[in-house]
Amino acid sequence: MRILVTGGAGYIGSHTVVSLLDNGYEAVVVDNLVNSSKKSIERVEQITGKKVTFYEADTLDRKAMDEILDKEKIDACIHFAGLKAVGESVKKPWEYYENNIQGTLVLVDALRRHGVKNIIFSSSATVYGEPEFIPITEQCPKKSCTNPYGWTKSMLEQILSDIQKADPEWNVILLRYFNPIGAHKSGLIGEDPNGIPNNLMPYITQVAVGKLKELGVFGNDYDTVDGTGVRDYIHVVDLADGHVKALDKIKENCGLKIYNLGTGNGVSVLQLVKAFEESTGQKIPYSIKPRRAGDIATCYASAELAEKELGWKAKYGIKEMCEDSWRWQSSNPNGYRD
Ligand code: NAD
Ligand code: WQD
Repeated sequence: MRILVTGGAGYIGSHTVVSLLDNGYEAVVVDNLVNSSKKSIERVEQITGKKVTFYEADTLDRKAMDEILDKEKIDACIHFAGLKAVGESVKKPWEYYENNIQGTLVLVDALRRHGVKNIIFSSSATVYGEPEFIPITEQCPKKSCTNPYGWTKSMLEQILSDIQKADPEWNVILLRYFNPIGAHKSGLIGEDPNGIPNNLMPYITQVAVGKLKELGVFGNDYDTVDGTGVRDYIHVVDLADGHVKALDKIKENCGLKIYNLGTGNGVSVLQLVKAFEESTGQKIPYSIKPRRAGDIATCYASAELAEKELGWKAKYGIKEMCEDSWRWQSSNPNGYRD
């Protein structure tokens, strides 16, 4: 099968392309490189020894999408392309709604006109808002999001569900990721944020590599094991493999399906810092800062449905996530930049 991977040069996309190629799929990547580098694709080819067809194109570009789909025989699409910085989305809501929502509408229209009615969409645990119960199952009601980025995910879930309902030839799988960290074992691909990282693990690795002085821990007065925020960190390679399993489900003509991709384990900020220090030998100085607006105390998945229906379960633990994040960061202190 030949898979169109939008956003395939990005963090999760590049790891998923490796998993696809390792599992006998062909990958056609479309990325406008707004938040990534073409080098990731070269590294993917280096890791797998296989060729990736790459188009530098924008999912908003109707003509480009048509031309690519005219040329390539695509069986299914894994749609990662989107802007994802929560804070930036608050400042630039229009840009986020246009890029993420309009970009998806154009893509989906081009796909259906080319008879490709199989899509796997990158959603997020953010759609659960302040979750009604924990561990979070897929039955947990969706709530108000605290930022425009989150709303784009929530709205796109609705849009794709409505499209599938109106035309049952569509197979739509919404994957709600928890907190992806880690990197490919080779240390050749990984997360490469622009500027100062917003997310915890890239901040930790940049402190470890000496680019940042100390970690600010956002709040230690939550109702959690040690007062710091608890999340479900998942190794990006496990996450990538989840997409390969989702493709098997698509082949069964599954209609609309929704799965959490998490480990089912909650880890606090200070537990992650400690695990990083123990598994890498790097000291992470930190200080306690006020809570960050929009953060919740605890968020972790019930990963049972994905195990039952996709036969997928996260294999890697926190230790490997830390070791692999560090291998990537220490061997690429400036990410893909020279
Ligand atoms: P990323 O920024 O590394 O990857 C997204 C890719 O999409 C980038 O390569 C970017 O250049 C590309 N892109 C953006 N807009 C585009 C457009 N209009 N046309 C073509 N390409 C475009 O982010 P990531 O962490 O790999 O995330 C991938 C997907 O997963 C995103 O949709 C993100 O919202 C979602 N997600 C990420 C996380 C996370 O914590 N990383 C969690 C939940 C969901
Ligand atoms: C994790 C924990 C912070 C940075 C975000 C998005 C979510 C999803 C994944 C895309 C929290 C604490 C963080 C720091 C800290 N992305 N922290 N100091 O907020 O769970 O989720 O990324 O869909 O939508 O909101 O991840 O890594 O930012 O934070 O103390 O410098 O680390 O308060 O408890 P989050 P995160």
